[in-house]
Amino acid sequence: MSATGKGRKRVLMVGLLCQDILNLVDHYPTEDEDVRCVNQFWQKGGNAANSACVLSSLGEPTEYLGTVSSRPEARCALQELQDFGVLTEHVVYSDCPIPTSCVIINTQTGSRTIVHGGRNMAELTAADFSSLDLNHYKWIHFEGRNTAEVCKMMEIVEEFNRNVVTPDDAITLSTECEKPKYNMGYLIPKVDVLFMSKEYAESCGFSSAEETVKSLLQRVKKGSTVLCTWGDQGADGITPEGTHYHCKAFPPEKVVDTLGAGDTFNAAVISGLCRSSSLEKALRLGCRIAGQKCGQFGYKNLH
Ligand code: FRU
Repeated sequence: MSATGKGRKRVLMVGLLCQDILNLVDHYPTEDEDVRCVNQFWQKGGNAANSACVLSSLGEPTEYLGTVSSRPEARCALQELQDFGVLTEHVVYSDCPIPTSCVIINTQTGSRTIVHGGRNMAELTAADFSSLDLNHYKWIHFEGRNTAEVCKMMEIVEEFNRNVVTPDDAITLSTECEKPKYNMGYLIPKVDVLFMSKEYAESCGFSSAEETVKSLLQRVKKGSTVLCTWGDQGADGITPEGTHYHCKAFPPEKVVDTLGAGDTFNAAVISGLCRSSSLEKALRLGCRIAGQKCGQFGYKNLH
């Protein structure tokens, strides 16, 4: 592959970077209880930022794009992204406090209870996005938020794809329907790879990952792939031709921290598909790495 070939191009993850404050407790507090945590640490968070770190650890050249607080207290989140090898040169700075999540991790079960404050941070706009040189990217994943604006950003990528010289230069588009509060309906027919969380699938009335992927295949465009995670039951995927795969979960010996398990799954699947793995293999990689993540705190050393 040449220096400008697909192998050198980046994966771009677009979405949130926030500060996560993790409180590790040995039992879930009751309301108005005064508890001491067994440990507390700060780490960068946000779906796109978490996935970017995992992709980079798995060896994919990866860039993160989003709005980032320019305040001093926000520096460590951005630094942490960079320490994972994630490129950040196009982030858009804003003089707002960094969005922050206070997270209670119950170390008995690994459950993560998130209280998130957006703190008025502006979302990335299509105008910000339009200044990128899209020739640098082979895959762009949009976190499913500010969907009207994300739709415009996807249209910019679609326009780029209509004008590429060879199909190999086209950018693969993906998104995740994760939080039911966002209306993702008009993004679904635009992407090549669609991820859906169990929570979102249930909010649509689906009762299994298999039912979800089979049904969504009717709604995505021709040639698209659909995946759906279902917690400790693993995940399912379906090829554009309708071949369905199920992969079991890979539970670690002890589940200690499920924060960002879905972001980890998405990243590992994207990394597999970037290496031209079959859907079956990429799905298995996603489940395996997500399982590994649940057995440890944070995102380091996933392989
Ligand atoms: C995990 C996560 C956290 C963040 C929260 C935002 O998926 O991205 O890192 O605090 O979700 O909803």
